[in-house]
Amino acid sequence: MGRLINLADQWNIPVVEDAAESLGSMILTRHCGTFGKAGILSFNGNKTITCGGGGAIITNDAALADRAKHLTTTAKVNHPWEYVHDEVGYNYRMPNLNAALACAQLEQLDVILTDKRMLANAYNAFFSKTDWCDFFKEPDGCTSNYWLNAVITLDKKQRDDLLKTTNDSGIMTRPIWQLMSDLEM
Ligand SMILES: Cc1ncc(COP(=O)(O)O)c(C=O)c1O
Repeated sequence: MGRLINLADQWNIPVVEDAAESLGSMILTRHCGTFGKAGILSFNGNKTITCGGGGAIITNDAALADRAKHLTTTAKVNHPWEYVHDEVGYNYRMPNLNAALACAQLEQLDVILTDKRMLANAYNAFFSKTDWCDFFKEPDGCTSNYWLNAVITLDKKQRDDLLKTTNDSGIMTRPIWQLMSDLEM
């Protein structure tokens, strides 16, 4: 991130950080999603904390936060009774019920992260005793939220053997996402 931010600064490119998966992950003492001008977190059902769907924009820039709030809440002008929308906005606000779910989990984030780390340690211990593949561990100086446990196989054949063996045994594994740029559309 340091190198990316330096480069972007040189060229005056604002960085919007896709930190969708990384709530609780850190580089040194800094949370992912806080390096750029703005970051985004996903609260989709498969994430570290979820409110069913949706997410959050995080930024230290108050003007940008106001602008995002305006656009995501139908661009309604603040007024006690008039409903005037001063530009084309979007209905992207998070319903209170969903937000309550997320808030309750946010309070438990440390516990959730500890459990995920324990699970990752168990996978790591298992894979270090096999010649299957390498368990993907956090780089030095970084703290992973271990949202997703990942292994790197030697080649595609080993990958497919691993996928077949585990799935045949009722353990769900899957390959990493296809790159969007490789999809035909
Ligand atoms: C890196 C990354 N960006 C974006 C998304 C999309 O998030 P959402 O499902 O909240 O739209 C995901 C979801 O898995 C993701 O992992």
